[in-house]
Amino acid sequence: MPAHSLHSPRTPCIPSDEELPHVFEDHEFDQSYPKSIRHLSDCHWSPVEVCQMAAQFLVVEPGTRVLDIGCGTGKFCAIGAHTTAGHFTGVEQRGRFVKAAHEMLHRYGIAWVEIVHGNIADMSFDAFDAFYLFNPFEEHILPILRVDDEVEMAPQHYDDYTLHVQQQLEQRPMATRVVTYYGCCAEIPECYTCVKTAYDGTLKLWIKTQPCLDDDPESFAEAEKPAAE
Ligand SMILES: C[S@@+](CC[C@H](N)C(=O)[O-])C[C@H]1O[C@@H](n2cnc3c(N)ncnc32)[C@H](O)[C@@H]1O
Repeated sequence: MPAHSLHSPRTPCIPSDEELPHVFEDHEFDQSYPKSIRHLSDCHWSPVEVCQMAAQFLVVEPGTRVLDIGCGTGKFCAIGAHTTAGHFTGVEQRGRFVKAAHEMLHRYGIAWVEIVHGNIADMSFDAFDAFYLFNPFEEHILPILRVDDEVEMAPQHYDDYTLHVQQQLEQRPMATRVVTYYGCCAEIPECYTCVKTAYDGTLKLWIKTQPCLDDDPESFAEAEKPAAE
């Protein structure tokens, strides 16, 4: 799909076709990264088509605040911000990916994406409406998925990070949307329902359809209300 055919409410900020040529071709988009990082794309960064489908599901209105949990080099955030009216933030623990993300965003002139260098375990989800995860934690339990040794690998981290995400997602309001790409989805609490899958079931679109046990009683009442009210 050519870049110029996509609608965005931030028209003044959208780079011209010259600045962002063929952004929707994976191999060309990935050229914006240094060679030392580019080769990771096939395995570790979401394909452009997947980013677009996920972002379109997550952004339900202009300004929806989307968090990419483990954003790598910021590819999902960049494509999401370019193709929807959402506000995208990514958190990434590896410094070299954060640097590559900032350089890519600068190169494409995408100023409205925020990349945070940090660990998801230290973040509250209160400031976000919707969430994206491309299998961020399994490298701790599956050595074949290990990106590098910049951060400590330990099965305990898998448990801790998964639990943190689960607990944070439980606290989000009814109708919260999440997209997972690959992974066993252990981060998704039972109060979320998978409403659609794509790409042979690797992409899953989730909505919080039931109150979680710790939810405010008002959430239960809210859940009972007819949709029109
Ligand atoms: C498979 S990559 C996905 C990247 C990006 N979301 C995408 O779809 O293109 C997962 C990323 O999550 C990051 N990550 C894993 N655990 C993390 C944590 N606890 N906090 C922040 N980032 C984390 C990894 O460093 C890696 O870059």
